[in-house]
Amino acid sequence: MTYMKRIAVIASGRGSNFQAVVDRVSDGYIPGTCVRLITDNPNAYAIERARNAGIPVSVVDFSSFPGKKEYEGALLATMEESGADLFILAGYMRILGQEIVHRYSGRMMNIHPALLPSFSGLHAQRQALDYGAKVAGCTVHFVDEGMDTGPIIIQRCVPVRADDDEERLSTRILQEEHGALPEAVKLFCEDRLMIDGRTVCVLPP
Ligand code: GRF
Repeated sequence: MTYMKRIAVIASGRGSNFQAVVDRVSDGYIPGTCVRLITDNPNAYAIERARNAGIPVSVVDFSSFPGKKEYEGALLATMEESGADLFILAGYMRILGQEIVHRYSGRMMNIHPALLPSFSGLHAQRQALDYGAKVAGCTVHFVDEGMDTGPIIIQRCVPVRADDDEERLSTRILQEEHGALPEAVKLFCEDRLMIDGRTVCVLPP
């Protein structure tokens, strides 16, 4: 039997992208196993989603540590212990320290609700609206030491409509996120992503 990649998702909140990955693992689209949800927030709705899907949860509660260094030490230990091949940041609302980023280089991805390199950071959808962009979207990328700067795996775009507010645009983008993230994870699990500098090459099946 071929080896199935082990996937861990790190999320801070609602967890709809986590759910999209879980659903596509269970319908067989992603040839992998979702082995863990890791969260920094004991109240994250993602925890309920994990329980419903029978996926083990590790809560590394940021507020229970004296500082970022201690928190990240515990996070790293949890990540190691999960034995995951791939870590997905799906709505993880903190900036990861360099040690973790380097340790998982090439096997950690992030989903961002904008067409990077435009509108990195928080409130990306609002940034796109405020800027007057006509096209918006989402990006799945490998994580490097910058904020939302790593090599791009997949981007999907949506139109910005004249009557959009932040919520309407975010909903339209989120729908694309739920397709783009599982696609990137599938490609990773099939060993079809090759990083060449800034470029991620997608190898044929
Ligand atoms: C998504 O818009 C994602 O792109 C961003 O945070 C949001 C998380 O949403 N990084 P959810 O928790 O996956 O529903």
